[in-house]
Amino acid sequence: MQQDSLEERLQAFGRLMDAKAKQEEKENEKSLRPKTFDEYIGQEEVKENLKIFITAAKQRKEPLDHALFYGPPGLGKTSIAMLIASEMGVNIKITTGPAIERPGDMAAILNNLSEGDVLFIDEIHRLNRQVEEVLYPAMEDFAVDILIGKGPQAKSIRLDIPKFTLIGATTRAGLLSAPLRDRFGLVNHMEFYQVKELAQIVLNSARTLEVEIDQAGAEEIARRSRGTPRLANRLLRRVRDFAQVRYGGVIDEDVACVALDALKVDPNGLDSVDRKMLLTMMEMYGGGPVGVDTLAASIGEDAGTIEDVCEPYLMQKGFLQRTPRGRMVTNFCREYFHFPLEEGAGEKKGSSQISLY
Ligand SMILES: Nc1ncnc2c1ncn2[C@@H]1O[C@H](COP(=O)(O)OP(=O)(O)OP(=O)(O)O)[C@@H](O)[C@H]1O
Ligand SMILES: [Mg+2]
Repeated sequence: MQQDSLEERLQAFGRLMDAKAKQEEKENEKSLRPKTFDEYIGQEEVKENLKIFITAAKQRKEPLDHALFYGPPGLGKTSIAMLIASEMGVNIKITTGPAIERPGDMAAILNNLSEGDVLFIDEIHRLNRQVEEVLYPAMEDFAVDILIGKGPQAKSIRLDIPKFTLIGATTRAGLLSAPLRDRFGLVNHMEFYQVKELAQIVLNSARTLEVEIDQAGAEEIARRSRGTPRLANRLLRRVRDFAQVRYGGVIDEDVACVALDALKVDPNGLDSVDRKMLLTMMEMYGGGPVGVDTLAASIGEDAGTIEDVCEPYLMQKGFLQRTPRGRMVTNFCREYFHFPLEEGAGEKKGSSQISLY
């Protein structure tokens, strides 16, 4: 394989397979957002627990306990927050950590909620410390402490606010401060989706978008979606364009394969950062073991992104192992990228696809 063509591939790939929402996608996503728990595919454990807590809270006529969702981008954190509000029959106010700059802004937002409302704070790990401190009494006692006056005369008075449910979402649970994390009654880890769940999501989205697709076509898209519903929906849209222009509008396995190969989407759903990381490990560090900070510096990525976003998927797919001495690639990974195998390197698990694209 030639080095420069790989670079080109990585670039094209990076734009398509970045799981963060693209601007144009934010509008489109609304139509594909699941509107009921039945439409929300997968995450069964999280869903079953939530259903019980929601029913119990409704029976007691109380707001749901504060809930935190953490996991890689595009796995359905915002969607589930909206679902909770709609199942509880309450309004949802949506904001993000960096948007709330001053403690007073936070206090005003809380004060303007109605009884039972959901306040959804995305990227909650990016709240600044002073703003975060306003949340502590709000979450615990439904009150905010306001400082009146300045200097030695200043006094703090406590104001009651409506009982509400805070839902926090973050891709970086490790960055959340302990006092904040401890105040969430329900802490949920979002998992990557199984191929069969993603295939179901693709089939449902195809129905909404009025695209004709068969089961095998949906599964091919699902396999290449990196366990991520947002990517599955994105790939479906791109494959639809191919189908429409070249193949009479119908997506089957062959059409999906041709289109996804043309789009240079990896058969195992690796994205550009995954590939860069694995290639760097093999080219510069003989496959490891290498520490995550060293690796992060070598590829110009944030160590947290590597740990929270890349590694869980790569380990699940059998490309990577964590050892006490650092990260190591498996022989499955070497084979995948046509590197010589090494005795004693971690053995692969599962998966049959060895070819690149
Ligand atoms: N469980 C699911 N079932 C069906 N579709 C889903 C599911 N989860 C996510 N999606 C689809 O993926 C899209 C992205 O999901 P969402 O915006 O909820 O992800 P997120 O975890 O909030 O991402 P980010 O970390 O970027 O905020 C949704 O618009 C929806 O179409
Ligand atoms: Mg979101």
